[in-house]
Amino acid sequence: MRRDECGVKSSLKPRAFTQHAASPMKTEILPTHTKSLFGTAVQRAVQLLRAGEVVALPTETVYGLAANALDEKAVAKIFQIKGRPEHNPIIVHVVGNDMAKNCVRNFPELAEKLSNAFWPGPLTMVLPRSKTIPNNVTAGGETVGVRWPSHPIMQAVIRECGFPLAAPSANLSNQVSPTNAHHVFSQLAGKVALIVDGGQSQVGIESTVLDLTVSPPRILRPGMIHAESLAAVAGNLQLSTFNLQPSTLRSPGMLAKHYSPKAKLVILNWRDESELVSQLSTFNFQLSTTHVIAHTKIPAGFPPENVSVIPHDAEAFARALYGELHRCDAAGAELIVVELLPETPEWSGIADRLRRAAA
Ligand code: TXA
Ligand code: MG
Repeated sequence: MRRDECGVKSSLKPRAFTQHAASPMKTEILPTHTKSLFGTAVQRAVQLLRAGEVVALPTETVYGLAANALDEKAVAKIFQIKGRPEHNPIIVHVVGNDMAKNCVRNFPELAEKLSNAFWPGPLTMVLPRSKTIPNNVTAGGETVGVRWPSHPIMQAVIRECGFPLAAPSANLSNQVSPTNAHHVFSQLAGKVALIVDGGQSQVGIESTVLDLTVSPPRILRPGMIHAESLAAVAGNLQLSTFNLQPSTLRSPGMLAKHYSPKAKLVILNWRDESELVSQLSTFNFQLSTTHVIAHTKIPAGFPPENVSVIPHDAEAFARALYGELHRCDAAGAELIVVELLPETPEWSGIADRLRRAAA
């Protein structure tokens, strides 16, 4: 059963998954679509997290690979499982401003304002770290990213644990983030003991990361809470710059090439199908392995299974995008063509991810 919103309906039955033969660890997937299943899954996750283990949990943005943010050894397992470079800091997930305040040296008035406006939700605030946060969470830096997620399962697990959870997206490093339990399983089966299935992620792309340690605050990673919404609360802002050199990066998520499917991805604009086909002829790919993701101009001459239509609505598009990219990868697509997006602010986070996927 699928539910296209942040909820507790299980998106897939556990038996739909097949375990990789060579997997060293059995990966359990717990559904959450009844009150009792919800309770069981939360308890199991809390038990593992208290024991210093890593668990994949749903959030409203994308699924996260969580560990006790105050336990350096537990956090080290996240880096190992993902193959994540040590220099990439991890976001700390909290419930409530009090827990956020324990993670940071000071929580300025602007952070209070942003919390009131956008938390719980897809906003990460970068602030000076407190001593309780281990070095590997911040990648040795003096700042920490904190976020209060809105997903009921993530919230219940954090509340029950009583400690914050460090959690990057639950994918292998540099691959597309997971927006359902099946996506997590396809990359991390055998590497994690538990995936909690909380249905489809409602937002669908990763949180907006805002650095409050500089003035004016700077958007390090755009997301569905866009610059204009932030500016309405925070006033003046610095926008992130695409294509910075790695040595000057404040946030590795700003790397030009990131969030990529296996296939080559191109962003194109076409008036009609013949114009699309003539543009595609320059890429030298078979039509049978070319997938099109469109929102307004739908090409009819392609194999129907190779064409996805996502509503021309930024929220719906964000929610569906990574699922489509995972589907293209699973279908063995060699070329993914995404129809050019509008340039209005609400599309900016999505456009950012597509530019990086195409880089
Ligand atoms: O929506 C999200 O943010 C998801 C869910 C699971 O919460 N998490 C996520 O984590 O996308 P990750 O690790 O895949 O991306 C976090 C981004 C990275 O680009 C990282 O470099 C940046 O946030 N980041 C984390 N802490 C930071 C810090 N202290 N300073 C600058 N950038 C930071
Ligand atoms: Mg990630």
